[in-house]
Amino acid sequence: MSAPSSARTVLVTGAAKRLGREIALALAKDGWQVAVHYRDSLEDATKTVADCAQLAGASAAFRANLTNETAVRNLLPKVIQQFGRVDAIVNSASTFEHDTAASFTFATMDKHLRSNAGAAIILAQALHAHVTGRDGSASALARRPLGVVVNLLDQKLWNQNPDFFSYTLSKAALEAATTMLAMALSPQLRVVGVAPGLTLTSHLLSDKKFEALHQLSPLGRSSTPADVAATVKFAIDNQSITGTTLLVDGGQHLMKFERDFSLL
Ligand SMILES: NC(=O)c1ccc[n+]([C@@H]2O[C@H](COP(=O)([O-])OP(=O)(O)OC[C@H]3O[C@@H](n4cnc5c(N)ncnc54)[C@H](OP(=O)(O)O)[C@@H]3O)[C@@H](O)[C@H]2O)c1
Repeated sequence: MSAPSSARTVLVTGAAKRLGREIALALAKDGWQVAVHYRDSLEDATKTVADCAQLAGASAAFRANLTNETAVRNLLPKVIQQFGRVDAIVNSASTFEHDTAASFTFATMDKHLRSNAGAAIILAQALHAHVTGRDGSASALARRPLGVVVNLLDQKLWNQNPDFFSYTLSKAALEAATTMLAMALSPQLRVVGVAPGLTLTSHLLSDKKFEALHQLSPLGRSSTPADVAATVKFAIDNQSITGTTLLVDGGQHLMKFERDFSLL
């Protein structure tokens, strides 16, 4: 084991880059040891680990393809073996591939549901077993909840359009799972959703179009990566929140968009 087992440890999935990296760094700044999950982005994951380690003293990278159930089931035990304990999981990794009601197949649904909902549920199940087995003493149980899971959702669940059909279905499943897991896994675990608005651009958008779309909200700005990371940190810290979702989107969910941002 590379670190003292008393330090708080968080697993952040999809933490090599983009929002996952921002969340990992925000938690490291707060003293958390960060397990950086990645799939393909080894180089970026290595950089996130180095940056987190500089802030918190300990960090390590863990590879897993979240569409593979065995890989998902092996992930938390590997993190526990490395750090001695896990206290929180942030499910940020996500498949985001375009399909429509016309192009939908079982294959597109399966891929999105596995990585975006199934993996998060199995990781929550594993964290519940870990904290229950680890903190069985009366004094620890008096400090319930003992662990927390934060699921990254999307404002578009409250403002639906039919683009990215399988992605949206998978996030809807994860939102329902957030409620059900909060009920099923309490009092040991809290389970909270965080739903960003348009926060980072993609290859589908020019910088100019991204800027224009980012301003398209009641507040004149959608969320920034720092806003999302701060909300995740709040969800982790606040001991009374469970089974609900915090929308951090400048109010975009209050507006109606006929298409996904990237296709407007
Ligand atoms: N970005 C936004 O504006 C926005 C808006 C609303 C909601 N969200 C939500 O916020 C979260 C983070 O957004 P993001 O834009 O940072 O995500 P992203 O860039 O689309 O994906 C994050 C990471 O997910 C990993 N990933 C994808 N499929 C995987 C699989 N099968 N197994 C393991 N890892 C997999 C990839 O890791 P590797 O690169 O290592 O392969 C990728 O770097 C997502 O859940 C997203 O739905 C984001």
